[in-house]
Amino acid sequence: SERDSLYIVSDFASKHYQQLLHSHEEGAIGQSYLKERGLSNNTIKKFELGYSLDAWSDLTDAALKAGYKQKYLEATGLTIVKEDGKKYDRFRGRVMFPIHNISGRVIGFGARTLKSNDKKSPKYLNSPESEIYHKSNVLYGMYQARQAIRMQDNCYMVEGYLDVLSLHQGGIENVVASSGTSLTEGQIKLIARYTQNITVLYDGDAAGIKASLRGIDLILENGLNVNVVTFPAGEDPDSYIHKVGDEKFKAYVSEHAQDFISFKTSLYAEESKGNPVKKAEAIREIVTSISKIPDPIKRSVFFQSCSLIFDIDEQLLISEYNKMHLQER
Ligand code: UTP
Ligand code: MN
Ligand code: MN
Ligand code: MN
Ligand code: MN
Repeated sequence: SERDSLYIVSDFASKHYQQLLHSHEEGAIGQSYLKERGLSNNTIKKFELGYSLDAWSDLTDAALKAGYKQKYLEATGLTIVKEDGKKYDRFRGRVMFPIHNISGRVIGFGARTLKSNDKKSPKYLNSPESEIYHKSNVLYGMYQARQAIRMQDNCYMVEGYLDVLSLHQGGIENVVASSGTSLTEGQIKLIARYTQNITVLYDGDAAGIKASLRGIDLILENGLNVNVVTFPAGEDPDSYIHKVGDEKFKAYVSEHAQDFISFKTSLYAEESKGNPVKKAEAIREIVTSISKIPDPIKRSVFFQSCSLIFDIDEQLLISEYNKMHLQER
């Protein structure tokens, strides 16, 4: 079928990119980049990393020569055909991160440029949506992480490919990435097959934190428990684990894991200090988050802790909650 053909050509591409990384002379550039990023051969092999040549149509030519049809190369986004009919490769001169579905088949790629500050091309290029690759239902690393997630009964959520690889290598194997996009319901349901507990490891920048708050409300709505860990400014999980080492990283994560509602409450309480208008808005914001939690017992625990942090009457929060729900009906 058409779907099978897309899987097969994606598999060909992944093997081709791996072959280039390990055996082509230009692949040495990719290898040394990955070594600089602290990745071992083991990790590189386990995640089937590869390299795409800095040439116009190396993959396309190789695939056509091996008998793969152009229409499947186009449908997976591996080949781009210009108006004049010229064909070229989407991924060129990049380190390749194959994205697997839950049964281990390659469905798409993330690809990082090796240039550290090239403003002309994006740092990461990704495969487009296709019949086999639906971004909103995929988490990078899930295929490699799923058993560990079940065993640990917890899933670490990070932002990027490198975060997944570095944590996995450091012995934290229950880790997946949303790959830069905000979390979707499909991704949450995927995690919920293995665990009800998610620990979000944000990049240490305020913009990132604010942006991910909404995605987290979605986790609460689906009845899962959420903890968050923040890192010092400018660090992400990958940079931080390399800075402090595996053991200190694990200690940091367990010491700094905070349940999401308390985290959000403290964040807003801090911001709205001494400003009653802001404080009222903040409280409404928190109550909105708490109201997403389906379990009434959990809800009441969070109303209690929120009332402590904001130093306001718990009954006031509950009546705010009731007002919201009356409006809904
Ligand atoms: P980051 O900018 O935090 O990247 O984006 P990173 O993973 O830390 O990258 P390194 O350490 O510089 O290599 C987080 C994720 O957002 C997506 C990627 O999935 C990336 O891993 N992203 C980022 C893109 O898709 N395109 C971009 O241009 C940038
Ligand atoms: Mn490392
Ligand atoms: Mn970031
Ligand atoms: Mn990052
Ligand atoms: Mn990074």
